[in-house]
Amino acid sequence: MSRHSEVAGTERPPGFVFHRQSKGLFRRGADLVLHCEDLPLPTLAERYETPLYVYSATAIRQRLLTFQKAFREVPHTICYSVKANSNISILRLLARERCGFDVVSGGELERVLVADRRAAKKTVFSGVGKSADEMTAALKAGILLFNVESESELWALAECATRLRTTARVALRVNPDVAADTHPHISTGLRKHKFGVPISDARELYAKASGARYLKVAGISVHIGSQITELAPFAEAIARVSGLLRVLRADGHRIEYVDSGGGLGIAYQEPGVDFDAMVARYARAVTNPLRGLNVHLLLEPGRAIIGPAGVLLTSIIYRKENDGKRFLVVDAAMNDLIRPVLYSAYHEIVPVVQPVNSTKKMETVDVVGPVCESGDFFARDRELPRTEENDLLAILDAGAYGMSLASNYNTRPRPAEILVQGKSVKVIRRREKVRDLFSAEL
Ligand code: LLP
Repeated sequence: MSRHSEVAGTERPPGFVFHRQSKGLFRRGADLVLHCEDLPLPTLAERYETPLYVYSATAIRQRLLTFQKAFREVPHTICYSVKANSNISILRLLARERCGFDVVSGGELERVLVADRRAAKKTVFSGVGKSADEMTAALKAGILLFNVESESELWALAECATRLRTTARVALRVNPDVAADTHPHISTGLRKHKFGVPISDARELYAKASGARYLKVAGISVHIGSQITELAPFAEAIARVSGLLRVLRADGHRIEYVDSGGGLGIAYQEPGVDFDAMVARYARAVTNPLRGLNVHLLLEPGRAIIGPAGVLLTSIIYRKENDGKRFLVVDAAMNDLIRPVLYSAYHEIVPVVQPVNSTKKMETVDVVGPVCESGDFFARDRELPRTEENDLLAILDAGAYGMSLASNYNTRPRPAEILVQGKSVKVIRRREKVRDLFSAEL
């Protein structure tokens, strides 16, 4: 928790914390300045310009470690979900910490291979529409497991594997028909969703799969959705999986792996939540139903690892007022971070520099970008301390599904990404140039 009550709730330790800085020799008072680890964000904004994605390596490592600790009593592999943030330097950092990966396309697989060729053997491949080319690439790379989502896909995989004379280890992704309380676009575990095979059809499909020469039935996988903060649906889904596991073993299948997917939510709005305790409770929810079954657990967290480890740093271009409604027009936009409009997502927004102990003037504002759509906003009717043009704002918890969902809408180059550790900083993706955007058209 913060030592400065004014900014309590707007820090994300150990990545993003306010430090007191005196205003300089000739000015009285001090400011609270948001830092990424040991570096003040204003310095980073000056050096690398805005909008800018800033990540804390220490926060990423610590969050991964929290998972590894919570599951230490069971054989497990954390397969970080690449879609949450697929920057190669971040993948490399995670691979160095013994992390595996969950990929959903040939492109994500290539990123993993570039980050660390040896990580292939800890990589699982999910997704409802894997193409023959993608499956062939994954077989050649020697990935750990294919999470197969339909009978058609099963036969397509069998064909690819036969052609290469390479055995594909297979799990069926079952749809457990469990409801999870999250945004409808990111809930996946209900019968009406496109994902997985109905758990009631699974037994028959496993029997078919085991008859194919180059398929090896090796696991069961499940994923019920994303940004889920209630633990009961996870426990319920895994309980259904463990029921199926017993049946399949009785049928003679050698099921070694249970892949419980990702989906653990983060506290976008309740910064007081104790992450370690949350992950520990999540671990109990997932492992209890599997007790005594002697399986190797695979986990696919994305957001919970990288979300709070990143911010989107942006500058206020203009203040404007329309009929009494106040807007802060910033230099980041919906193309850089689309979550607010796409999922009605809440992201905490904080002025990067705040005077200490001043009687704070608050105001109600919309924080909006320059893109030509009313959906281009980061916050609506938000109470924020008064800020001025050229001030910096940090949009918090933007590490997950920020840059990975960014686009070039309005021919806007995507931001640079930097990774901070202690006092050191590395540009892990250079800022795009307008020329990069249309070079494929010339
Ligand atoms: N495994 C599978 C099979 C998935 O489909 C997903 C996410 C994950 C793991 C990782 O879930 P996580 O631990 O990050 O919740 N763009 C949305 C989230 C989409 C999630 C899609 N699948 C957002 O910004 O909220």
